[in-house]
Amino acid sequence: MMRDGGLLVVDVGTTKICALIGEERDGKLWVTGMGVSPALGLKRGSVVNIEEATQSIKSAIEKAQGQAKVDLTFVLTSVAGSHVKIQPGMGVVALKEKEVTSKDVEEVLASAQAVDISQDRILLHVIPQEFVVDQTRGITQPIGMTGVRLEAHVQLITAQRSHVQNLLRCFENLGLEVDGVVFQGLASAEAVLTSEEKDLGVLLIDFGGGTSDFVIYKEGVLKFAGSVPVGGELLTGDLAVCLRTTKGEAEKLKIERGICLRELVDEDETIEVPGIGNRPARSISKKLLAEILEERVRELLILIESEIKAFPKTYLTSGVVLTGGSALLPGLIYLCDQILDLPARIGYPERLPGLTEEIYHPQYATAVGMLLYAYQNLPQGMERPQKKEGLLGKLKKLLKI
Ligand SMILES: Nc1ncnc2c1ncn2[C@@H]1O[C@H](COP(=O)(O)OP(=O)(O)OP(=O)(O)O)[C@@H](O)[C@H]1O
Ligand SMILES: [Mg+2]
Repeated sequence: MMRDGGLLVVDVGTTKICALIGEERDGKLWVTGMGVSPALGLKRGSVVNIEEATQSIKSAIEKAQGQAKVDLTFVLTSVAGSHVKIQPGMGVVALKEKEVTSKDVEEVLASAQAVDISQDRILLHVIPQEFVVDQTRGITQPIGMTGVRLEAHVQLITAQRSHVQNLLRCFENLGLEVDGVVFQGLASAEAVLTSEEKDLGVLLIDFGGGTSDFVIYKEGVLKFAGSVPVGGELLTGDLAVCLRTTKGEAEKLKIERGICLRELVDEDETIEVPGIGNRPARSISKKLLAEILEERVRELLILIESEIKAFPKTYLTSGVVLTGGSALLPGLIYLCDQILDLPARIGYPERLPGLTEEIYHPQYATAVGMLLYAYQNLPQGMERPQKKEGLLGKLKKLLKI
C-alpha cells in the first residue's frame, strides 16, 4: 500500500549513504524506513564520481522506500567537507508600523543574507544570532517590540557551489527533487545535543569516515561551524601502511582491537596482523596499533583546537560531544580531555519511535538530525502530511539551496 506524505532524508557520507523516512503519527515523528549502502564515488565528503555516487544513493533510497512502503520524490540531503565555511552577516530595516512584525523579521533576515557571497559559493543556512531594536541588543524574539529600527546579526553557512551541484546532479539523475541541503555538522547537533548543552556552550565533533565536522553552540544558538578533512578512513589507511596489511584487515583491526591512547595498553599485549597476499601473519605489540591511531587523532584534535581558538574553554561550559562512527574509538574521550582540556561524552542520536534500535548508533546521528531538522522547521500550524507536496515540500521556502 502506498501512503501519502512523509519525509525522505539522505545523508551522503564518505563511507555510507543513509536514507531515512519519517512520518508523523499521533503528533510524533516516527522513523518508518531506513536504507544504508556503501558510499562509492565519494571522497572526504565530496562527490568524485557522479555515476557511482548516483547508484549508491539510489540503492539506499530504494531500501528505505521499500521498507516504509512509500514513494517520495522530495528529498533533503547533506553536505560536509572543508569547503563548508561560516561568515557573519548583518541586516537593517526601518520599522513601518513602530512595532516589529513577522514580515519585518523576514525582511531583515533577507537583507542580512545580501552580503558578499562570492559566485562560486552557495548559501546553506542563515542563523540568527541576535536582533537589535533601536538601542536594545541581545533580543532573540523581536516580534511585537516597539521601535523605529530593526537590526539582525546572523551567521551564514556557505558551501562550494560546484560541490553542491555535483551532489544535486546525482539526485537529478534519479528523477528526484532536492528541497534542501543541510550542513552535516548542524544536522548531527540536532540529533545528539541536549538543549542544556546548547545553552551552556558545547563543541560537537562529528568524527566520520572522511571528514570531521564541528559546531559550537552557546545560548541555544549555533555560533561557529567548520569541517576538517580527517576521518576514520585516514586512520585505517595509516594502519594499513604502518602494519603492512590490506585496508580491509586494517579496518577490522581498528574496529575490533583499536584504541587511540597508548597509555591504556599493557606492554605485553600483542595482536595478529594478517599479511598481504600469501605472506604470513605477524604478531605485533598492541601498543604500536594504539600509537598509530593516537598520532592521527591527536592531529585531528589539534586541528580543531586551532580552528576554534577564538572561543575560550570557559565558553564551552558543557564540554565536548563526540559523534559519527569514529567516535566509538576507545580512548577518544581521554584524548579530548588531554588536548582540548574539555570533558567529553559520546553522542548517540535521539531515540525516535519506529526503527528505534536500528538508528541508535553515532554513525546515524546526521541522518536522524536531518529528519528532526526537517520536521522541526515546518512552519507552525501547517497541516501535515499532505498529498503530493509531502512534509518536505513545505520546507522549500525555509531552506536555502
Ligand atoms: N567501533 C568503531 N571504532 C572505531 N571506528 C569506527 C567504529 N565503527 C565505525 N567506525 C569508523 O567510522 C567511520 C564511518 O563513520 P560515519 O558513518 O559517521 O562516516 P560517514 O558519515 O560515512 O562519513 P563522513 O561523515 O566523514 O563523510 C569509518 O571510518 C569506520 O571505520
Ligand atoms: Mg557522516
